[in-house]
Amino acid sequence: MSSVSSPAAPAVDLQVAPLTPAIGAEVSGVDLTQPLDDATLAALRAAWLRHLVLFFRDQDLTFEQHKALGRRFGELHIHPAAPKDAEHPEILVVHGDDKVEFVAGSLWHSDVSCDVEPPMASMLRIVQVPSSGGDTLFASMYAAYEGLSDRMQRLLAGLTGVHEGEQYYRGRYGAGDLRDGAYPSAEHPVVRTHPETGRQSLYVNEGFTTRIKELPLAESDALLAFLFKHCARPDFHCRFQWRPHSVAFWDNRCAQHLAIWDYYPETRHGYRVTIRGDAPFYQPG
Ligand code: SIN
Repeated sequence: MSSVSSPAAPAVDLQVAPLTPAIGAEVSGVDLTQPLDDATLAALRAAWLRHLVLFFRDQDLTFEQHKALGRRFGELHIHPAAPKDAEHPEILVVHGDDKVEFVAGSLWHSDVSCDVEPPMASMLRIVQVPSSGGDTLFASMYAAYEGLSDRMQRLLAGLTGVHEGEQYYRGRYGAGDLRDGAYPSAEHPVVRTHPETGRQSLYVNEGFTTRIKELPLAESDALLAFLFKHCARPDFHCRFQWRPHSVAFWDNRCAQHLAIWDYYPETRHGYRVTIRGDAPFYQPG
């Protein structure tokens, strides 16, 4: 466990305990219901950039506190399927019980990568957990990129992934229920340069990426199948076990996640605030 101090200390005594070398750290010593001072914010952001996803325990946030916390990191994103009459359109409800036919995020994805400017980050608070299960897996896409051979890295550099909302949302939301009345779709570099760390990461995911634009379909299918399997390697992962009022804050630019739906017929319930991002780019290293 390391203690993070920032130049403008004393803010709070943040403790950051990594879950795995690749990804994930549990943070203690901060009360997220309270406004964050600049020094604490800077220390959290540094830990987040280093570990890709931060976990916090016992953070009983109101919707307003949750949104205010998200806004400390950027402008809030509204999900394409946010109900038009929602009181808090910036809050996405995440729910599973014995009646639903799907739960959000139960396959590997980076949130809303089908947007032209996909969300930078997501901040999920789970308030009700099943008696066991309902964990979330997170995967480092830096580690996935770095785990490829030089030759494969060179092949992928400059290729374009097509990300389609329809593949993920069809059967869950009708196009007419979505923000723009149509399924979002976007093209992004397969290798993405992180705008803050400068590191390269793999930016394809089985939730949204349907093909690689420059390749014939058979080659695109085979390459994506390989990359999805590669991203699922356990040494790129951490696994988080939720308790009521745990919060996870992840960087969608370099991490994917998968919510495990193994708790049927029990209930799991939570709320996600999502923070807007920029158009992905690739800058050769
Ligand atoms: C999501 O994809 O945001 C849902 C993750 C989860 O429920 O653990």
